[in-house]
Amino acid sequence: MARKLAAGNWKMNGTGASLGELEALVSEGVPQGVEVLICPPAPLLTRAAALAGDIAIGGQDCHAAVSGAHTGDVSAIMLKDAGASYVILGHSERRADHGESDAVVRAKAEAAAGAGLQAVVCIGETLDEREAGQTLQVVETQLTGSLPDTASASNTVVAYEPVWAIGTGKVPTLEQIGEVHSALRAALVARFGAAGGDIPLLYGGSVKAGNAADIFAVPNVDGALVGGASLKAADFRPIISALAATVAE
Ligand code: 13P
Repeated sequence: MARKLAAGNWKMNGTGASLGELEALVSEGVPQGVEVLICPPAPLLTRAAALAGDIAIGGQDCHAAVSGAHTGDVSAIMLKDAGASYVILGHSERRADHGESDAVVRAKAEAAAGAGLQAVVCIGETLDEREAGQTLQVVETQLTGSLPDTASASNTVVAYEPVWAIGTGKVPTLEQIGEVHSALRAALVARFGAAGGDIPLLYGGSVKAGNAADIFAVPNVDGALVGGASLKAADFRPIISALAATVAE
């Protein structure tokens, strides 16, 4: 059984004033049986980690190198040093905005593991790919290419985020989510053996309070990677509670 994770990706949103939302989440505590992760913009990491309590803090990207002449980038050990325990890698926005390939994501995941960070490796098909019937082929190729051979439940989380569902309010049907997650689970077990069964599989893309419980009831969905609805404690809290309810059952 994979552990349960409710992860918030603030993307390029928030300044110091937004840390009040994190404080509000912290004050509620983390329910038993789940992990909660917030990934704020890099400039907020140190301040977020200082007040995060039981909530884990993560970066949104890292460079594959440990240090060097890479202006504007941050390395995995810098994130770790700032108080992060996770890093999101290969988000579709980075794949689109920065041309990140599976090989680049894989190198970053190796760097993250080397720094003692857990990588949240993102994969997902575009609308064109879904409509062409290529979804499973696309996500399995991304999974294979983006995960290093050293991936395990202690250093890796996989997030399935259909590109067309991100920030659009459009969500795949529960059947579509279940089909992809069961294919991903099978691929992880085929590659990593029983350990592949323990790597958490998150769904991401327009998750909100109103659909979280239904999505969390889908087999092989171990949590969510949430964008917009993670920015406010009042929006994210019910999603955390819906995940905790699946553990309490
Ligand atoms: P939304 O929840 O805003 O659709 O974003 C999903 C996402 O991209 C999380 O990484």
